[in-house]
Amino acid sequence: MTRYAVVGASSGTGEAITQLLSARGDHVIAISRRPAAARDNVTPVAADVQDAASLEKALGDGIDTVFFTVDTHGFRKPRADIHSVMVRGCINAMEAAIKNGARRFVLLSVIGAEDSSWIWWLLNAVKPGMQENVLEREGALKQSGIPYIIVRAPRLDDAKLTHGSSLKPSSRQRLGMKPHISRQELAYLMVHAADAGTFYEGATWDVASERKA
Ligand SMILES: NC(=O)c1ccc[n+]([C@@H]2O[C@H](COP(=O)([O-])OP(=O)(O)OC[C@H]3O[C@@H](n4cnc5c(N)ncnc54)[C@H](OP(=O)(O)O)[C@@H]3O)[C@@H](O)[C@H]2O)c1
Repeated sequence: MTRYAVVGASSGTGEAITQLLSARGDHVIAISRRPAAARDNVTPVAADVQDAASLEKALGDGIDTVFFTVDTHGFRKPRADIHSVMVRGCINAMEAAIKNGARRFVLLSVIGAEDSSWIWWLLNAVKPGMQENVLEREGALKQSGIPYIIVRAPRLDDAKLTHGSSLKPSSRQRLGMKPHISRQELAYLMVHAADAGTFYEGATWDVASERKA
């Protein structure tokens, strides 16, 4: 049986990925600082991505695919703290995945990270260094040596699952407010990409939505 780990599993997209995988009978190691209770096919593990040793232990032996969906919250956090979770935490997860022989690392990222826009300006104001961090951790994953899939999403919402989106090879585009995708649908796309053997590997994909705001 394929075994998965979701880092950032207790809410949002990570929780949706965990639900999708466990409902179809796959086993998931669900990692976050405050994990939900254990349930069928889900083993919750408490670990902070800033603590490399705890992550290495959490990702243990026999994981096939690691999904990384961690996000930081709160205003006025110092730039170094945000970097420590977004970038160092992601690198810790990659290194733990590699050490434990995982086959694939799937990173949830953000569309249009190369170009400036007023939304990036706002995001960088709220989370200092955000745009640079997005690019830095994508770069680290590409250099890491583990087969990877980067999925760049637009604005997320909690609408019901609709199958109006697909993954397209990433292209330069500005991050705007209009394109959006539900976390459930994004979870479905990320699991689909991981299921597709090597098809999506070694590349960066943009979520292309048919839905209008
Ligand atoms: N929001 C958007 O519009 C948007 C758009 C494009 C891309 N994205 C990206 O999508 C990703 C997921 O966003 P989301 O809103 O679905 O997620 P979310 O609900 O914010 O969930 C974040 C997860 O990260 C965990 N986490 C936070 N700090 C952690 C730490 N230090 N160690 C371990 N786990 C930690 C949280 O659990 P605990 O608190 O229990 O640790 C939670 O499970 C983010 O990377 C974000 O950049 C977001």
